[in-house]
Amino acid sequence: MTQYVGELNPPCRLMLTPGPSSIDPRVYRALAAPLVGHLDPWFKTCMDETQILLRQIFQTENRLTMPISASGSGGIEASVLNTLEEGDEAIVAVNGVFSDRMFEIASRVTTKVIKVEAPYGLPVDVEDVRRAGKGKKIKMIGLAHGETSSGVVTKLDAYRKVADELGALLVVDTVASLAAVPLNVDRERVDICFSGSQKAISAPPGMSPITVSPAAEEVFRERKTKVQSWYFDLTTAMNYWGKERLYHHTPPISLIYALREAMRIVVEEGLEARWERHRVNQDALIAGIEAMGMGLLVKNPADRLPTVTAVMIPNGVDDVKVRNQLLDEFNIEIAGGFGPVKGKIWRVGLMGHCSQKPNVLLFLSALEKVLGEQGFRTPAGAGVAAAIQSYSHAETAAAVSR
Ligand SMILES: Cc1ncc(COP(=O)(O)O)c(C=O)c1O
Repeated sequence: MTQYVGELNPPCRLMLTPGPSSIDPRVYRALAAPLVGHLDPWFKTCMDETQILLRQIFQTENRLTMPISASGSGGIEASVLNTLEEGDEAIVAVNGVFSDRMFEIASRVTTKVIKVEAPYGLPVDVEDVRRAGKGKKIKMIGLAHGETSSGVVTKLDAYRKVADELGALLVVDTVASLAAVPLNVDRERVDICFSGSQKAISAPPGMSPITVSPAAEEVFRERKTKVQSWYFDLTTAMNYWGKERLYHHTPPISLIYALREAMRIVVEEGLEARWERHRVNQDALIAGIEAMGMGLLVKNPADRLPTVTAVMIPNGVDDVKVRNQLLDEFNIEIAGGFGPVKGKIWRVGLMGHCSQKPNVLLFLSALEKVLGEQGFRTPAGAGVAAAIQSYSHAETAAAVSR
């Protein structure tokens, strides 16, 4: 009972993971700003500004746009629980752990959820979704824009078309893609789009930005039953984030400060510049990985999610030993694989604040050293040289680092 607990002193890691990503010093400063009450008039203005920034990043005019007080999984819960009622039919396109989570959550609401699958490393074929929905009254089609478990991005336009044909709402998980991958919620007519604060926005984990189209709001209004979750009932939560600013729950005020500051950084850089930066840095990383003699899980370059690169672990190399050595010797964290690709891939994240040229070059040289000690030899400096060559094609310095 008298055991002494020392001062908090976490290591300074470079988080090249599929989330969370490292954060800008400005965001740390925002976290340390004085706390105010959640109904303080000053904080209400801060909420307005948070919503203005969210709309700019989602590229939407949607009234119902707010950060949910929860991690990205809360965004899935809110989207699905507000849309579906017992007996409704829905389709979820599943190509990894997170889209499967959406299927699992939807299946807890209604037994009539169809899972349309693709193997890890591929997007779900939209024709399979069209076939699955034929002749059915599908209320929602759900998918992960960026499937973090396999590093796959799915194009939304064909999904929108099928959703229109079936009269369904399009629900899109952009936890791993918002602010890094081209997305325009209004133009692409995504009905419900949610994300996570800790990935390409580069704020701490704990908030899930969400935006809901007028068509989806109409579906919420027509519900015959109450939303199964009180906490995630978006209509009542919006009484706080809407004009009334009525108490719903006490939000994580300091996290909202941090999210606001992280989003200011996103907007200062500009979405298009940010998308380009993510693309250029992933290209350089891939050039380096391939020059070192390793392959990628996602074979088609057009299917590669710019924030997460799934690298095939070379035969005979110990997944965990490599990751541990990267952490212990270089303070670099990368992630392993989940489910069917556990032990087969590393997932290297270049998200938001972490997607920078120096990080790519440091990682490639650290990996060369660690792999060499595991008996996997690569031509000296080949990874870094290939990455530098790849950068020489990038037009501006701003495209590689903030
Ligand atoms: C695509 C995707 N969706 C949902 C989640 C769940 O987010 P969280 O872990 O913040 O609950 C993640 C987390 O990695 C994710 O990558």
